[in-house]
Amino acid sequence: MREAFAAAFGAEPDGIWSAPGRVNLIGEHTDYNGGLALPFGIDRRTRVAVRLRDDDVVRVATDSAQAQGDEGRVVTATLATAGRATGWSRYVLGVVHVLRRELAVEGSGFDALVSSDVPVGVGVSSSAALESAVLVALDELWELGIARREMVRLGQLVENEVVGAPTGTLDQSAVLLAERDHAVLLDFRADTAEQVPLGFEAAGLEILVIDSLVRHDHATGGYGERRRECEEAARIAGVTTLREVAVEDVASWADRMPAHVHRRMRHIVTDTDRAARVAALVRGGRPREIGPILTDGHVSQRDDFEDSVPAIDAAVEAAVAAGALGARLTGGGFGGAAIALVDAAASARIGAEVADAVERAGHARPVVFSVRASQGARRDPDD
Ligand code: GLA
Repeated sequence: MREAFAAAFGAEPDGIWSAPGRVNLIGEHTDYNGGLALPFGIDRRTRVAVRLRDDDVVRVATDSAQAQGDEGRVVTATLATAGRATGWSRYVLGVVHVLRRELAVEGSGFDALVSSDVPVGVGVSSSAALESAVLVALDELWELGIARREMVRLGQLVENEVVGAPTGTLDQSAVLLAERDHAVLLDFRADTAEQVPLGFEAAGLEILVIDSLVRHDHATGGYGERRRECEEAARIAGVTTLREVAVEDVASWADRMPAHVHRRMRHIVTDTDRAARVAALVRGGRPREIGPILTDGHVSQRDDFEDSVPAIDAAVEAAVAAGALGARLTGGGFGGAAIALVDAAASARIGAEVADAVERAGHARPVVFSVRASQGARRDPDD
């Protein structure tokens, strides 16, 4: 990366910072409803090499062919115009804009090179990985000393205000707080984050990501509509967030709101319950037992939250049929990926069987890869 940086900008970078993508084990769309979620950072990272400049120019380059197709290899802006960025560079320049506006930061310009193996549009938070890598880089280079929890809020502002995606704080929390071999139990009402050792490796387990190749966009897709439906459910139930509704009370609301709004409520309330149960099992050293809860979570998303797509339903079904302990859609939905909990020894066979079955069902052949719980955003060691 140092060489690529030198080729792009003619100098050595001051350092390289990186952040992982994330997989959400369970607890979907619970973040903006004050619920629980249990994500972990994955061993796919976005790296950003940065060198401060002595003027107010910001140049951002990427080695991603996909992004270059959109906008070209190097995007040039100034600190003051960063908020007007479009395309992939918004995730970098948006951070500059938000830091300046929220914290009145007076840093100098910089050159940055982005390189990533976090797939984009898959539901593993490529955008949060990029924002967070830039946040930790600028935090250090501009000597800001921002707490991780505050970075979560700043990353969310980039999404909400610069990108225009009305997302919650799940992704940034996962990417910024992740620890190796742990998931983070996030409680969005209490605003707490607790590390939970996963113990997958010791139990001979692995998580497969099954990318459907159906792409989502949370700025324009059904995400915002779901969010509004959840707010409607909360309003009718007279609560600030759906977290206030107990599992055993959900049924009593059925004839007091539109049927689809009630289904959204049921998903949110039961998924927080599932997240609590999964966290308890994992913590108790019983990770094999979480499989059926994951699959129940998928059924809830498919039938109640209605944010799945046929290719992902097919992948979940095929994974379970091939011997996965459990499987579900992960992330914001309307495309993206499924995850499957599998025996590591059977992982390659299950992956191949799922890809075959999904293709046979008439969908694009999914791309399958395994992930390990990895470290959150950090400065990479110099080597
Ligand atoms: C996307 C959003 C998150 C969260 C998930 C669904 O990843 O960015 O805030 O709402 O969807 O759990």
